Amino acid sequence: MHLVEANGAHIPAIGLGTWTLKDEHCADIVETALRGGYRHVDTAAMYDNEKAVGSGLKRSGVGRDEVFVTTKVWYTDIADGKLQRSAKDSLARLALDDVDLLLIHWPSSSIPIAESIGALNDARLRGLTRHIGVSNFPSSLLEQAIALSDAPIVCNQIEFHPYLNQSKVHGACDKAGLAKVSYCPLGRGGGLFGEEVIVQAAKNHSRTPGQIILRWHVQQHGVVAIPRTTKPERLAENADIFDFELEASEMSEISGLSRRNERICDFAFSPQWDAA
Ligand SMILES: NC(=O)c1ccc[n+]([C@@H]2O[C@H](COP(=O)([O-])OP(=O)(O)OC[C@H]3O[C@@H](n4cnc5c(N)ncnc54)[C@H](OP(=O)(O)O)[C@@H]3O)[C@@H](O)[C@H]2O)c1
Repeated sequence: MHLVEANGAHIPAIGLGTWTLKDEHCADIVETALRGGYRHVDTAAMYDNEKAVGSGLKRSGVGRDEVFVTTKVWYTDIADGKLQRSAKDSLARLALDDVDLLLIHWPSSSIPIAESIGALNDARLRGLTRHIGVSNFPSSLLEQAIALSDAPIVCNQIEFHPYLNQSKVHGACDKAGLAKVSYCPLGRGGGLFGEEVIVQAAKNHSRTPGQIILRWHVQQHGVVAIPRTTKPERLAENADIFDFELEASEMSEISGLSRRNERICDFAFSPQWDAA
């Protein structure tokens, strides 16, 4: 098991993303992933699939302490009291006593950050989660969150793939020992797979383009990737990336694709992002 150690948390370097997975299909994918060796599952209150994720966890037969489960509180629910309620509701749907990691899904422009970080810490003290973290926090907000938190923030889950330069916020994570959890690690399966440098690296290592992209993530210090697939046959492919290494030149060529600076998840409620 390849783990990223971050401020006391040990996070499996590959996790299963579950956004868009629903109901029985979601439960099946989670069960198959765990039976096949995955030990990290990422969900959120907003995904409307926590019940199915919980069923998949249970059906897999894998012990609770062997799986790292992350869920998130939607940004409209991060006031004191509401955040703790959201976490409890998530646990009821997941049928778990606690999660390993509870994240603020997005920062809010209207709820004071001190209040939501206080509520997140309170959720931890109440035993709803083992660790706490944030998601979609640019570097300045991340630094505020870290300064305001009693318990260590263990990760910032942010969009990261070869088309997006996240060096500024990654630097802020490194400075404080946080894991950098990459969402949309495959760039949602777009043009990235046909990029010459990725196709060439796939040939060099007899791997698929998806494996090259995921290897590029986990070969960077402190990076965890949470790829999603709706296809059970791709689960093993996406996790089978720990027995080869990309050359330094391949790593930097793939990183060079970030000059496109292409962000997938950008909404009216998004914070002011770090400049690339
Ligand atoms: N914190 C946040 O705000 C936030 C935002 C977005 C996502 N997330 C989390 O991050 C997870 C991953 O991000 P994502 O789901 O947006 O995108 P992603 O993992 O980058 O891409 C998923 C897409 O890639 C395809 N794919 C997966 N494995 C493949 C392979 N080996 N070869 C070719 N195509 C492959 C999938 O198609 P098939 O289904 O056909 O395989 C799917 O269309 C989410 O599920 C969610 O858990 C968090």
